[in-house]
Order: sequence, then C-alpha cells, then structure tokens
Amino acid sequence: MTPPPAAAVKGGARPQVSHRKHDAEGIERVYVWDLLVRMTHWIIMICVFMLAFTGVYIGDPFLIPAGPANEQFVMATTKVVHFYTAIIFTLAVASRIAWMFVGSYYARWHQFVPVGKRRRGDVLGMLKFYSFLSKEPPMNVGHNPLAGSFYLLVFGLYLTMILTGFALYSVSSVGYMQMWEFLVPIFGGLQMARWIHHLAMWFLLGFVAHHIWSAMLVSRVEGMGLIDSLFSGYKFLPKSWRNRDD
Ligand code: HEM
Ligand code: HEM
Repeated sequence: MTPPPAAAVKGGARPQVSHRKHDAEGIERVYVWDLLVRMTHWIIMICVFMLAFTGVYIGDPFLIPAGPANEQFVMATTKVVHFYTAIIFTLAVASRIAWMFVGSYYARWHQFVPVGKRRRGDVLGMLKFYSFLSKEPPMNVGHNPLAGSFYLLVFGLYLTMILTGFALYSVSSVGYMQMWEFLVPIFGGLQMARWIHHLAMWFLLGFVAHHIWSAMLVSRVEGMGLIDSLFSGYKFLPKSWRNRDD
C-alpha cells in the first residue's frame, strides 16, 4: 500500500530525516557495535528491571501472603532472585568496563569522555538540539558525545549500586561474601548504605525514562538506524564519513 502524502499525516508534515541530504552520495552499512557492547547493554537492561522490581519489594514488602511465613518464602525468594541477578549484573558491568580499554574502536573510553575538539563541539550542538535552538542533532558514528558523557555517570551509578549492594550483602552472608564488610564504614554504616542503594536506583530509573525517549527521538531524526544498531551492530551512514575518526 502506498503511504499517504506527508501533509495528510495526522499532526502535520513528517519531520525531515537528516540522512536524506546524503542520498546523492550514497549510504552504506557500517559495523559499529561489537557483540560484547550489544550483549552487555541488553543483559544490563534486563538486570536493572529485575533488580528494581525485586529491590522495591525488599524495601517495602507490599504483598504479604496469608499463612505461615515458612510455607510462603516470598521475601526469601525475592532476595535470592535479587542476589543472583546482582551477580549477573556485576559481571556484565565489569566486562563492559574492561572492554572500554581492550574492545573495538567504538567500545572504547574515548566514546564516553569528549576528548577531541569536534566531540566537545558536538556536546554543545546536542544541548542546542535538546533546547530547541537547532533543528538537527550533530551526527556521530559512535555515541553522540553528550550521551557518552551521561553514560559515564550511569556507569558511576552501576558501581554505586554494586558497592552498596555488596556492603549490605556482607552482613547477611554466612560465607565468603562477608569479605565485603569493609565497605560498610566507607558508606557511613548500614542504614546509610541502604539509603544510598535505594536513592541511586531512582536516579538510574530517571535516566532510563529519559534514555528510552531520547533513543527513539534521535533514532528517528538521524535516520541511521540507531536503535536497530544495538541489535544488529550496524548503522546506515553516508559514504563520505568513511574517514571520520569520531
Ligand atoms: C541496578 C541495580 C540494583 C537495584 C535497582 C537494586 C535495588 C534495591 C533496592 C530498592 C533495595 C531495597 C533497599 C531498601 O531496603 O530500601 C535493595 C536491597 C538490597 N540489594 Fe539491591 N539493587 C541493585 C543491585 C544490587 C547489587 C549489585 C547487589 C549486590 C549483591 C545488591 C544487593 C542488595 C542487598 C544485599 C539488599 C538488602 C537486602 C536485605 O535487606 O536483606 N543489589 N536493592
Ligand atoms: C534499564 C534500561 C537501560 C539502561 C540502563 C541503558 C543504558 C545504556 C548505556 C549505559 C548505553 C551505552 C552503551 C555502551 O556503550 O555500553 C546505552 C546505549 C544505548 N541504548 Fe540503552 N539502556 C537501557 C535501555 C534501552 C532501551 C529500552 C533502548 C531502546 C529503546 C535503548 C537504546 C539505546 C541506544 C540506541 C543506545 C546507543 C545510543 C548512543 O549511541 O548514544 N536502551 N544504553
């Protein structure tokens, strides 16, 4: 079926898709995200949702089933799910951080710290786009530099969750996990560690809400297959970008 003309689309004309101005020179498929970047992104996403869901229950058990507790084990089961998921989360985060130093070009740390002149300029360009001062975002092969800097903060939040989580775990463990007990005074005691663990979760969930919205927006405006690229690894880029080093 032929799509309706732009003017007939409810809400007015379709937004201009940026890559169309490159159509004359041609678009090519470029492998940007390697397997580890893609796998860790989606594994971390599933873990964050499971940890937040089980964590909120641990903090505030809103469902208390009738009958003797030792026949239900709702809280115990929730904690086991939280802890096993926490181990997978920690391994995925550790692998991704190590990959920032040994992984493929677009997996590396320079995608998160805007070191080059062009990337620093693009941070400003992206801020202008978000504040409606420009119609198009600056386009990059890897992460856009503003998002990249934010991801650095997100990795900081991951580490906060992991360290406070291990501090809390050390006191209920009867085995080798007690070795993390030294973290408890660093966070100012157990109650403070618990508070930081809880608060950092809400910061992380706040990021996630914005992140999903901006991934959909930027993916549509750039027209390079941004969201698809985190599944396939490939973006669709203008041929003239072959020698770009961002
Ligand atoms: C994105 C990651 C995570 C989220 C969103 C999350 C969320 C939460 C929340 C909301 C609580 C309840 C806090 C309260 O009592 O108010 C909690 C408790 C806890 N979390 Fe996490 N957590 C995460 C990662 C981890 C990790 C990596 C560990 C490491 C083992 C961990 C271990 C624990 C422990 C031990 C508790 C306390 C359980 C208890 O009271 O016995 N969490 N978590
Ligand atoms: C708990 C949920 C999520 C978290 C914590 C999260 C976090 C992140 C992080 C840290 C990165 C950087 C990846 C790296 O280089 O390793 C990233 C990239 C990305 N994420 Fe997510 N993500 C989540 C969910 C999603 C969802 C649901 C989508 C799809 C709608 C999505 C789309 C993307 C895209 C397109 C990129 C690359 C964007 C760019 O180049 O800047 N994410 N995400």
